[in-house]
Amino acid sequence: MAGRGRGRLPLSLRRNAVAWERQRPTWRDAKPALIAGALKRAQARPSGNWYVVGASRDVGGDRPLGRTVAGREVVVWRDTGGRVVAGPGVCPHLGAPLRDSPVRCGTLVCHWHGLSLNGGPFAGWKPFPAYDDGVLVWVRLDAVGGEEPLDAPVVPRRPVPARALTAVYAGAGVCEPEDVVANRLDPWHGAWFHPYSFVDLTVADTPESAGGDSFAVDVSFKVAGRLVVPVRAVFTAPEPRTVVMHITEGEGVGSVVETHATPLGPDASGRPRTAVIEAVVAASDRRGFALARAAAPLLRPLVRAASGRLWRDDLAYAERRWELRSTGRFPGA
Ligand code: FES
Ligand SMILES: [Fe+2]
Repeated sequence: MAGRGRGRLPLSLRRNAVAWERQRPTWRDAKPALIAGALKRAQARPSGNWYVVGASRDVGGDRPLGRTVAGREVVVWRDTGGRVVAGPGVCPHLGAPLRDSPVRCGTLVCHWHGLSLNGGPFAGWKPFPAYDDGVLVWVRLDAVGGEEPLDAPVVPRRPVPARALTAVYAGAGVCEPEDVVANRLDPWHGAWFHPYSFVDLTVADTPESAGGDSFAVDVSFKVAGRLVVPVRAVFTAPEPRTVVMHITEGEGVGSVVETHATPLGPDASGRPRTAVIEAVVAASDRRGFALARAAAPLLRPLVRAASGRLWRDDLAYAERRWELRSTGRFPGA
């Protein structure tokens, strides 16, 4: 696969495959202080109080999208013009859960007594700013974020939609957004913790070595058996609750995997719950790539990399981190 093949020959046959237990340990490089530093810088960046609430394609139709963000019920729907509108999910009359109310011609109609909301302030109900970036929908909650509000969220750079295949996954775990972000700012766990997806992982640049604030990782996505897709992936945290992976070399250059962490609020035992909303925007510069060929087998590993088992394992990592932090037992503190 060396040199020449990269970018031209997407698939490669893994030679000299190293057994899982014989691969180089990464723990010496994965310095807790380095990860903590990257996390701290991410947390210091402005979010403008914007929170990802779901996929754009999930907003529309005859039901609003209902989400709880930091304990606040939020509903999101589309008005007659197709624009996303958002606001509190509690009916201002007697408190019906508006997430269960229908949308009729761009108007949310409370199913208890018929109060109608068209997205504008009404009867004590005040909308929240909402933003549809074409892949994800964001809501601005100034009372939750407490930062200086921004007019629009910090949306990562993405491939042009016409040449991309988009998939959005959502899950939730018992942890805080920072635990999700910290998991993504530890690229060293990839081939150890997810050997079914990643092999031959080398962290080429860190914020320490490169001076920038990103992690560059050379890694191979496993396709089947010894067949792999080698890529270079660069991880950055453009805002406090987002980590973005850009594929900068290899198959799918320009593809992006965005991980967004949205605090949901406490569960019944008072433990914090966080939603992980992940958008995969896969691109290919292969001739003839079109939406019709969205299932291009070479992109599948990338898309799959954001789903299933990988997902559950990363949430388990985040939950474990929170559990240890919240009981003063986290060794990387
Ligand atoms: S509770 Fe919504 S209209 Fe009465
Ligand atoms: Fe992971």
